[in-house]
Amino acid sequence: MAEANEGARNALKESLQEAREVMRGRMGQRAPRIGIILGSGLGPLAEQIEDALFIPFGEVPHMKTSTATGHVGRFVAGRLGGAEVLAMQGRLHGYEGNTAQEVAFPVWLLRELGVETLITTNAAGAINESYQVGDFCIMSDHINFTGRNPVVGTDPDGLSMRFFSMLDAYDPALRALAHEVARAEGVRVQEGVYLGLLGPSFETPAEIRAFRAWGADTVAMSVVEEVIAARHVGMRVLGISLVSNMACGVEGANPSDAEVFEVAKRAEDGFCRLVSGIVARMGEAASDGE
Ligand code: HPA
Repeated sequence: MAEANEGARNALKESLQEAREVMRGRMGQRAPRIGIILGSGLGPLAEQIEDALFIPFGEVPHMKTSTATGHVGRFVAGRLGGAEVLAMQGRLHGYEGNTAQEVAFPVWLLRELGVETLITTNAAGAINESYQVGDFCIMSDHINFTGRNPVVGTDPDGLSMRFFSMLDAYDPALRALAHEVARAEGVRVQEGVYLGLLGPSFETPAEIRAFRAWGADTVAMSVVEEVIAARHVGMRVLGISLVSNMACGVEGANPSDAEVFEVAKRAEDGFCRLVSGIVARMGEAASDGE
């Protein structure tokens, strides 16, 4: 049994190294420090990345490919707001049949490639009744209700430590920066607790009432496993949701994926300004420190 566990850990490390070598070969001199995951309907930001190099997930060893609607499924390396970034245009979800480690794999890969800060984005339903469809919500914390954790079986002596803190998992300084940029850009933002679950069914009204009692403000089917993986290897994290709908039963809502995409389309401009503004400020801060 001990040997089997060790095999699994080594297999993960070796898979990451193989993936890293292929990515490095394609990226050449590019050395992005900022990673961005673009969620449902939010992929168009990738079109604003200059000098873009596209690497489809399917061309990277051990990466699963995206099967979710609106998730192109490729890495995009280039410049955004003057800073070098490595974006994922589309993500991997548990509901597509991926294990927690498969969902986390690209996050660990970004870290292997030198990425220090992760901006992860998604579309989410609002549990908090004071939120409005079209608002953005900066994640202050999360509740992992997927029942899974990507770090299971990877450590010790794998990638990092087995036990690690999730206090301030969503970096307070980056959250403050996101608020500043939102104010400057005139984009309406909230800040709240995000609850992530596996999906793909939407929640029931009873679940939404229970989640509200737990202190959750938004809900969706991604992000939490990525953030656990990012914190596991010491990355700073900023999480931003677009409120694409009120959660099931809130004000009589009955969410659908069509609604999510329609709202994301309308929010595209604000989202691009918010994220590129944040990246630009991060880039300035990094070069001030040099
Ligand atoms: N529930 C779960 N996932 C979601 C929602 C929702 O209301 N909106 C967008 N993704």
